[in-house]
Amino acid sequence: MTGERPATTARTRPAPADATAVAHPNIALIKYWGKRDKQLVLPWTDSLSMTLDIFPTTTRVRLEPGIRHDTVVHDGIPLDGLPRHRVTAFLDLVRQRAELTTRAVVETRNTGPTGAGLASSASGFAALATAAGAAYGLTLDPTALSRLARRGSGSAARSVFGGFVLWHAGHPDHDDPDLGSYAEPVPVRLDDLEPALVVAVVDAGPKALPSRDAMRRTVDTSPLYRPWTVSCRADLRGMQEALHRADLDAVGEIAERNALGMHATMLTARPAVRYLSPATLTVLDAVLELRRAGVSAWATMDAGPNIKVLCRRADAGRVAEALRAAVPGVAVHVAGPGPGARLLETAV
Ligand code: PMV
Repeated sequence: MTGERPATTARTRPAPADATAVAHPNIALIKYWGKRDKQLVLPWTDSLSMTLDIFPTTTRVRLEPGIRHDTVVHDGIPLDGLPRHRVTAFLDLVRQRAELTTRAVVETRNTGPTGAGLASSASGFAALATAAGAAYGLTLDPTALSRLARRGSGSAARSVFGGFVLWHAGHPDHDDPDLGSYAEPVPVRLDDLEPALVVAVVDAGPKALPSRDAMRRTVDTSPLYRPWTVSCRADLRGMQEALHRADLDAVGEIAERNALGMHATMLTARPAVRYLSPATLTVLDAVLELRRAGVSAWATMDAGPNIKVLCRRADAGRVAEALRAAVPGVAVHVAGPGPGARLLETAV
């Protein structure tokens, strides 16, 4: 993959009609869980994440004047049903903005597990927004691109940027609510923080309940949902201060309690949403053991049983070894802070 150009390049028509983009997943340290507007994908709370340098998604969008329906191919397999509909609905939004009706062929390759709570929708829709925006000739700065990616999957707004990223929920009274909800990078002294996320894949299979359904049920039925949103505000303030100080212990402690709080809202939904498996709890025990042994290691979990352990880069090998020893057969990957979404010059 050569000849990268920034996703920020201002474009005027004619559109290139064929664009390829790459984006990486991000893992939230302050979680997004729950929408206040499903149509616009506006969250109830601000969230903050780290973009990873592993598991990129590469997506090519090619306009095809001769076809009547979009074609969506994922890892070489044509998509059908809901996954295809999510992509075509997103393309409809892009076409509406571009005032074009031409259908497209979308080819996407994902290097990480899909739909397993490992942020494949974040990298997927960030790559799709970047490639489709360019192919249909939209002029999008990174802020506008994050708003667009948000419409595909909320967390995708954050994958538009690299490193640490804050996604503003926006204010309900804003004249144009869409404008108020966007992501932006958070400046962090990475040489001082030296963060790594050790990803333990205990189950690479797709989740039983999609996160959007689980979110809706949690918001509608969990008595803990509102209190959690209140605690998120304090968690975010603490997280921003901890990142500013490059204080990994504080970052980890806040991230772990925020994630456990999110899972508490799920567990108290009616009926309960339970993504954590026995293997997840085994890994959580191993993380506690590491801390007892003096290693700064903190866990976070998303809509799936897989765990990401935040630690110092220098400790990542030891953490990975402890997780492998705790769960035989677990796949462990070490990630650092990764780049934002970008266009590629050459198709893949
Ligand atoms: O963007 P979605 O709809 O896949 O939601 C992601 C939600 C979590 O991964 C659980 C948390 C987050 O902030 O990424």
